[in-house]
Amino acid sequence: MTYISPSILAADFSKLGDEVKAVSDAGADYIHIDVMDGHFVPNISFGTCAMKPLRRYTDKPFDVHLMIAPVDPYIKEFADAGANVITVHPESGPHLHRTLQMIKDLGCKAGVALNPATPVDELDHVMDMIDLVLVMTVNPGFGGQKFIDLSEKIKTVAKMIKKSGRDILLEVDGGVTPETAKICRKAGANMLVAGTAIFKTEDYKQAIDALRG
Ligand code: DX5
Ligand code: ZN
Repeated sequence: MTYISPSILAADFSKLGDEVKAVSDAGADYIHIDVMDGHFVPNISFGTCAMKPLRRYTDKPFDVHLMIAPVDPYIKEFADAGANVITVHPESGPHLHRTLQMIKDLGCKAGVALNPATPVDELDHVMDMIDLVLVMTVNPGFGGQKFIDLSEKIKTVAKMIKKSGRDILLEVDGGVTPETAKICRKAGANMLVAGTAIFKTEDYKQAIDALRG
């Protein structure tokens, strides 16, 4: 099973609620929410005031990807606004373990995002507390970028997850299209984020189905 998490960064912001409902009806498993601060990444997206009202438009879990630094002061705000999974980058705070603990204590699932140049070693001492690993196949900050083939990295993370014996999702984010989705699935990913490949098409259901393969 490959879970699909459409990134609303590529949606029509003038009707975000309808867009979230449309991808939910089209079979999305999660809703991917990219939060950018113009500091940790060179782009600003939105925060909880845009995210919270979307809760009324879907029952799907909110897969919140925080690209903000410092991240700790905002974790609770996102949990309170309806986040189900909260994913952070190790570089976005001084104490990754503390940040993940905070996410768990708030009752959310905790994820770690690895930028293309971030080594998988970052996961070594937190495998026992995470629910998701997000392998970035673009440098974070923008939708619509070209996929970087990190198959070997995805395979390594898949092995680490298997070794842990825990139920950890392996999500890939960035430049995912029906073609690159195949590469990701083959390498062991079981959750795919896609913005452009879903929201810039006419038929969301067809787009989602194409990513599942
Ligand atoms: C990039 C974001 C991605 C992005 C995906 O910083 O984390 O989620 O929106 O967009 P596409 O699918 O267009 O590459
Ligand atoms: Zn993302």
